Amino acid sequence: MQRMIAVDKLARPEDHILLRSDRVRNARAEQGLTPNSPMPYEDDFLKSRMHGICAGEFQAMEAAGRTLYDFPDAPWEFQLDMARQVWDESRHAEIYMKLLEYVGSYYGEFPEGEVLWSCTQAEDPAARVAGINRGLEGLACDVFEQLIRLAQNMGDEVIERAVDYVLADEITHVRMGSKWMRKLTEGDPERLKRAQAFQDSIDDIFNFGNGRTFVENAEHVKQRVGDKEFEIDRSITIAREARLLAGFTEEEIDRLVKGFRKSAAY
Ligand SMILES: [Fe+2]
Ligand SMILES: [Fe+2]
Repeated sequence: MQRMIAVDKLARPEDHILLRSDRVRNARAEQGLTPNSPMPYEDDFLKSRMHGICAGEFQAMEAAGRTLYDFPDAPWEFQLDMARQVWDESRHAEIYMKLLEYVGSYYGEFPEGEVLWSCTQAEDPAARVAGINRGLEGLACDVFEQLIRLAQNMGDEVIERAVDYVLADEITHVRMGSKWMRKLTEGDPERLKRAQAFQDSIDDIFNFGNGRTFVENAEHVKQRVGDKEFEIDRSITIAREARLLAGFTEEEIDRLVKGFRKSAAY
């Protein structure tokens, strides 16, 4: 059986579109759109954001399953944690499918990107959990915290509580990543460095060349949500409290804000 499968091997219903990011960019260029032109579905921020997250939850479920499969010699407790994560992510996928329905959309209405899946392409389980659990799921904490604040502005308790419930799980996944990144590389500082470099490369992709901002420094833009407009953060903010709960150090959080390439070891 093949390890580290390509994104187009992921099972999706026939009417789902799963595309490599470069194909999305090319399609936009062919239609005369700049990379920053809004796609039709981006007219409604909440549908677009929920759809991206829902696809991310599916890929997170698949990624944890692949990590379990790809590393049969990893410690049994590691495999148990990955199995537990598959279960958690499947609940998250269900929650976001329900939230999509709640905002008038459904999973598969828009194209699904592959950039999250590309982060699974690491041959070492220590790098895999550094990249996915600490990098990607750290990002999930940031994005979920933003969504909770938007739901609070909207006075929407359904979204606020549902996302908060998922965020609580993501914090445990980040902690799990930190634990295994450290355990699997015990006595091998070079291997730890490589795992962290893989995480840095992922943090970098999602920093889009800039650092993330603290909530209090965030600039705001108006976005349409349903038939109203709300102020949302212009860029990704740091979910400082959630990240501290998840075991990130103040120094690591600062580095993400400043867009430094290197994360501190711990
Ligand atoms: Fe999740
Ligand atoms: Fe997760």
